[in-house]
Amino acid sequence: MDAAGRLLPTASAHARLARRATSGTLDGFAHRGLPFMKQFYLTTAIDYANGSPHIGHAYEKVLADAIARVQRLRGESVHFLTGLDEHGTKVQQAARAQGVEPQAICDQIAAEFQVLLKTLHISNDDYIRTTEPRHQQVVKTVLQKLYDQGDIYLGEYRGYYSARQEQFLLEKDKVDGKWPEIFGDVSEIVEPNYFFRLGRHQDWLREFLTQNPDWIFPAYRQKQVVEFLKEPVNELCISRPRDRLSWGISLPFDENYVTYVWFDALVNYISAVGYGTAQFGERWPADLHVIGKDILVPPHAVYWPIMLHAAGLPLPKRLLVHGWWLSGGKKESKSDIEKAKALGLKHDSPLDLIARFGPDAFRYFLLREMVIGQDADFTTEQFVARYNSELANDFGNSLARLLNMGSRYSGGLVPAPTIAEEPERALRTAWEEFAPTIYPLCDEYQFHSLLDRLNAFVKALNRYLETRAPWKLAKSADPVDQARTATSLAFLAEGVRLTAVVLAPVMPEISARVLALLGQPPIEKWDGQLTWGTRLTGATLGEKIILFPKFEAEKPAETAK
Ligand code: MSP
Repeated sequence: MDAAGRLLPTASAHARLARRATSGTLDGFAHRGLPFMKQFYLTTAIDYANGSPHIGHAYEKVLADAIARVQRLRGESVHFLTGLDEHGTKVQQAARAQGVEPQAICDQIAAEFQVLLKTLHISNDDYIRTTEPRHQQVVKTVLQKLYDQGDIYLGEYRGYYSARQEQFLLEKDKVDGKWPEIFGDVSEIVEPNYFFRLGRHQDWLREFLTQNPDWIFPAYRQKQVVEFLKEPVNELCISRPRDRLSWGISLPFDENYVTYVWFDALVNYISAVGYGTAQFGERWPADLHVIGKDILVPPHAVYWPIMLHAAGLPLPKRLLVHGWWLSGGKKESKSDIEKAKALGLKHDSPLDLIARFGPDAFRYFLLREMVIGQDADFTTEQFVARYNSELANDFGNSLARLLNMGSRYSGGLVPAPTIAEEPERALRTAWEEFAPTIYPLCDEYQFHSLLDRLNAFVKALNRYLETRAPWKLAKSADPVDQARTATSLAFLAEGVRLTAVVLAPVMPEISARVLALLGQPPIEKWDGQLTWGTRLTGATLGEKIILFPKFEAEKPAETAK
């Protein structure tokens, strides 16, 4: 602390600041030699504007949000971006079918996604839409640069085209050697188009991956990319003739074409942070792109690094690739909807559970259930089971007991712990074995494991209470028993506080509510807050409240006798 009582940066914070203060020139934009602070820049995929949000979209945002919050809690300045991918054939077709402008469809879908972000407490700092001028300009600048330096050329695209579906087909679209009926007449056509020379940079990308084996997390995903790159990559067709697709960004060097939607969409990561301005280097390169497994190869692991490399820009530092929510092998299953209805829950989609159980319980489930990188099954039964056992019975119960006994035995205040016997030592040890794993688990995005271990600690907290049984001790006039009663309340309060502190990135609203019930402000920084202590002594406890009412399946209506 300095003389004015302000907290001074710790040694590790100093080291971090020094590491991040770079006098950089990025992409030729000099910063007049002044040092600038690089923010932790985190992105998600930008969602297609051709449908309403579903659980996959929600999960990716929640995962990225938890990572952003962990970074902030650890003292980093964070810039968190998400957004909407608005161009392309599907939006154009949907607009025609509904007789409206494509922009109208995008506006409606953007509003739906933004409501979901708010509902789920997603703390994004920006939302990019690919129809915004700030994005379109950057796409054009990048295209022009690549064209001028010979990375883009005019060639011939040859392929099978379905006029009815307005799309090119691949051999793999055939069923039993024939084009399925839905494609109508399919003809082979040859048309001039623009191509991006991916092949030129393939050796460089292979070398980059060899030098950076941890670029993609989990590591086995990087191996898939290396496998993909063993074969020569095709040059990428980055244009679509305007007479077929008008809903896109015009090529700056040929107005008769619009930009292929992936080339357009990937650029969002740099257009949103001011590519071409002096501020760009404060954010780019991104520290982490969070994406699903379906869009790694080739878009994020081949097109994007090559586009950046060709444009002379540094690559994102890491890609985090998550798995998919499946249910019975499908994205969302009908049988789950039926089961949910049998439990008395309105459930047309997993997102309906948010309204019934609250956004934080939903966030908790997504992060608790999915082993990062793998697929997971979403079932309402499993949701309810976890909610009832881990939130209602374990955490909810420890809080309810604290508030209840606090008002009965200690005048609504947290007493001072005065003794340390075996039960206290065991509980502290449970915490002290868990605490050092928190940062490493977060560094590897292992939220399922973090929450599993946290739940084990909460169970230890409830066991401690059973051992101490303050509801019995409080009846004794023996001063030692009174000291044990007071101590057990103090230990319970400290255990609940630490749980709320760890939960802050996962359940931000619940964490703040629990801390308020302990007379504490919401947690802003983790430093110094994750150690067992006595800071709650004398704090005023809040009114009794059931934070997670236990869910009971509705009883089937009684049949008339
Ligand atoms: N618009 C492209 C991304 C462009 S990024 C420059 C796109 N959009 S999407 O709406 O189809 O998917 C957005 C994200 O949601 C992707 O990362 C995708 O993997 C993820 N998910 C879509 N369905 C999913 C599940 N069922 N489960 C988990 N995530 C999944 O791809």
